[in-house]
Amino acid sequence: MGKITIAIDGYSSTGKSTLAKRLASALNYVYVDTGAMYRAVTLFALNNEYVGVKEDIPSLVAQLSNIKLKFMPNETLGLSEMYLNGQNVEKQIRTMKVSEHVSKVATIEEVRRMLVAMQQQMGEEKGIVMDGRDIGTVVFPNAELKIFMTASPETRATRRYKELLERGEDVTFDEVLKNVQKRDRIDSTRDVSPLKKAEDAIEFDNSDMGLDEQFERIHNYTLRVINQN
Ligand code: DC
Repeated sequence: MGKITIAIDGYSSTGKSTLAKRLASALNYVYVDTGAMYRAVTLFALNNEYVGVKEDIPSLVAQLSNIKLKFMPNETLGLSEMYLNGQNVEKQIRTMKVSEHVSKVATIEEVRRMLVAMQQQMGEEKGIVMDGRDIGTVVFPNAELKIFMTASPETRATRRYKELLERGEDVTFDEVLKNVQKRDRIDSTRDVSPLKKAEDAIEFDNSDMGLDEQFERIHNYTLRVINQN
């Protein structure tokens, strides 16, 4: 049975990564979280004061070739973690501070060009589940299976708020909801590769669905697509 490419796109906190990870593990495919890549570039930009209090996008663009990104497996946790220039930054890239600046960094054409090229290389041999915003439209327009995930902003903010509290971040629900709405707006209205459903993607609204039900539905559908290829 041939391996396929699976593209999962959608708004922030729709549960893309949870579903994508489980699907990849069930199929024995590689999972790639492209949001982590945009987040790592954003962390680099914050650390060097190219975004944040000061803003210097040309210097960030000039430094892009000095950014080395790598996913490395954490054997204990059974998942892969993001390394930025040799340092494990998995925790740092999930903070509110990075979330607040990542949409801006993701609008930079040169950043997108660099990350899209890396992503295409990772998927050369298929057998991959990649999640993001432009996977089905830009990175793998020929993916055999494209899923576009949606859920109401309130549902998404509630999920994200719980996650942040569990990680010990000091945030209010209102801040999280505003951040989710703001990122939706920036992500879907930017000029370069805006978030939009690919014409041939299946739309999957999981507002009222538990994790097991989501997985079972998508897994069954995926097996049918794999059988046809
Ligand atoms: O999936 P996430 O919330 O970790 O993504 C973080 C940000 O990165 C999100 O606001 C938009 C951007 N992003 C993107 O523009 N393109 C992708 N393929 C993945 C993420």
